[in-house]
Amino acid sequence: MEKIDILLLGAGGREHALLKKLSESPRAGKLYVAPGNGGMLQIAEQVPVNQDSPEDVANWALENGIGLVVIGPEAPLVVGVADAVRSKGIACFGPNADAARMEGSKEFAKQVMARANVPTAAYQSFTDREACEAYVRSLGGPCVIKADGLAAGKGVIVAQDTQEALRGVSLCFEGEFGDAGKTVVVEEMLEGPECSLLALTDGTTVVPLATSQDHKRAYDGDKGPNTGGMGVYSPVPMVSDEELAIMTDVMNRTVAQLAKDGIKYSGCLYGGFMLTKDGPKVLEFNARFGDPETQVVLPRMHADLVEVFLACDNGTLADVDIAWGNDWAVSVVLASNGYPGSYETGKHITGIDDAAALEGITVYHAGTKLDGEDVLTAGGRVLDVTAVAPTFAEARTRAYAACDLIEFEGKQFRTDIGARAL
Ligand code: AMP
Ligand code: GLY
Repeated sequence: MEKIDILLLGAGGREHALLKKLSESPRAGKLYVAPGNGGMLQIAEQVPVNQDSPEDVANWALENGIGLVVIGPEAPLVVGVADAVRSKGIACFGPNADAARMEGSKEFAKQVMARANVPTAAYQSFTDREACEAYVRSLGGPCVIKADGLAAGKGVIVAQDTQEALRGVSLCFEGEFGDAGKTVVVEEMLEGPECSLLALTDGTTVVPLATSQDHKRAYDGDKGPNTGGMGVYSPVPMVSDEELAIMTDVMNRTVAQLAKDGIKYSGCLYGGFMLTKDGPKVLEFNARFGDPETQVVLPRMHADLVEVFLACDNGTLADVDIAWGNDWAVSVVLASNGYPGSYETGKHITGIDDAAALEGITVYHAGTKLDGEDVLTAGGRVLDVTAVAPTFAEARTRAYAACDLIEFEGKQFRTDIGARAL
């Protein structure tokens, strides 16, 4: 079997999980990362490539005989890194810029959803501040204010009343989110538990992966500020077969609508759903794998990830086997004290190897760096401690036992990940 060299872009727990799964493929040759993190650099070589520069990535990949470029985060996708790589005749995992607008513009995603007749919150979009404020006042109650473009996960204000909504509108139009806030989407507020459904697609075939549920608030009991995600589990037992069928249909219909519009979506399409009384509705689409969802979905997936990613690129996804076990996965994020606000870095981390030696445990690095043999904290979310087990309760117990073995100054984590599902 011919081995191919792979370049993976990104530096989070999601990318460490992708890298590890890619490394397990018999097709994987040399592995390169840009920029990578402490854990990724233990199994791959770091290369001096600017992940957000289409030219830089494509040229380096060509000069170094790379056979597959895998793009982790959204920013390179939105600026067209995948387009540049493909233009050199190199296989790429991740959508081209036109398709990545599903994440890069909330207004665009809403328009696609309307054409595809996909259930989502009612909305209006505005480029004029006064018209936006007048609309918010006319609603006279809760609503959700969203900056149209990429805002590093910060451009959504879930407003309980008109005052809060107007403050959100001000933030957008006063430039808090840069150009991302020049267009503002105002949405109906939906209620219910959230559920993520990632789907792989080559533009025609759509393969939904297992369901997962993120915990976005910083502290136990869903208190505190929103974060990038503090923990996650898979699958989500509260999702009924009927709800799953609707969510699957949404993913299929969305990819088919894009194809009808002349846009080929190839890569991972992330559907963020709210399970409302009236059925699942889409909160957002992302053009990439979720973080930390990937850290519980990939360990449960039985597939050759190199083969799967190549098939997404070349349109043969229907021929690839992807199977799932009956196991459960729980992942707990260990964060730096102060996250998602300001925090210190450079703290020594101990106990990772002891934790990883426990049955069913994988410790994915997020914000870490290497200092010789030592591992230091280098970000807000530091490690994702993931446990796989035959039962949900056992997966939770294992994950928290592993968390207790890892120490660093200021270690902060939620103790109730998955508690609701038990
Ligand atoms: P988004 O980036 O669009 O997913 O928004 C981030 C978070 O804001 C979601 O995970 C939800 O918790 C919340 N959210 C977004 N849209 C809505 C909505 N229409 N109703 C209620 N909550 C929402
Ligand atoms: N877990 C949320 C995201 O990846 O956007």
